[in-house]
Amino acid sequence: MPVKIAILASGRGSNARTIINAVAQGKIDADIKCLICNVKDAPVLSIGEDAGLPSFMISHRSLSREEHESKILDILNRFDVDYLVLAGYMRLLTPAFLNVFKGDNHYRIVNIHPSILPAFPGATAYEDAYNYGVKISGVTVHFLDETMDGGPVLMQETFTRFDDDTLEDFKRRGVELEHQLYPRALQLIAENRLFFRYDKTTRRSYIEVKLHASC
Ligand code: GRF
Repeated sequence: MPVKIAILASGRGSNARTIINAVAQGKIDADIKCLICNVKDAPVLSIGEDAGLPSFMISHRSLSREEHESKILDILNRFDVDYLVLAGYMRLLTPAFLNVFKGDNHYRIVNIHPSILPAFPGATAYEDAYNYGVKISGVTVHFLDETMDGGPVLMQETFTRFDDDTLEDFKRRGVELEHQLYPRALQLIAENRLFFRYDKTTRRSYIEVKLHASC
């Protein structure tokens, strides 16, 4: 059975497009139920519409965080969604919202972040890593917890920053890696290959990946 996902996004939509294409090509065994965006005129909305997905714009403007999330939940409730996939969604989610997606030792919400977390959390990770002068950076796919860009890591991969890189070169290389990593990470979820463990000493959840797919 394909895993049922909804995409939540705010902007350019290159990760959403990559996921949509990967599903169409059979690289992710998923059924994308809908796409929700919080920014009017964001390119990701037409990416969803052009792909024939139910696509919704729910602006957060003039709404409290709770009001905005409740509107998003109204839409998600129309669909039967296993996992929420954040693809450049630029807002924090409240604990009450996370709880709607509570699973075993994790919330069923996945995010991609353009750094090796916990380094460089926040909305300007490429700029922050580049300006820091890192020689290596990377991309993280993780499940959410209550903290900003926190939560159990599913996949991380690195890319090199070359000495003559401009910020644009650095970002381009990172975004290419994002587009490779996210479909592979989502396919691990689709194949039911994740064990969510809880370490009582560190009080952190972490993920073990099974070698083989299971039903
Ligand atoms: C990506 O760099 C992603 O890692 C971050 O936001 C950006 C979204 O880009 N969370 P796009 O909208 O997917 O093109």
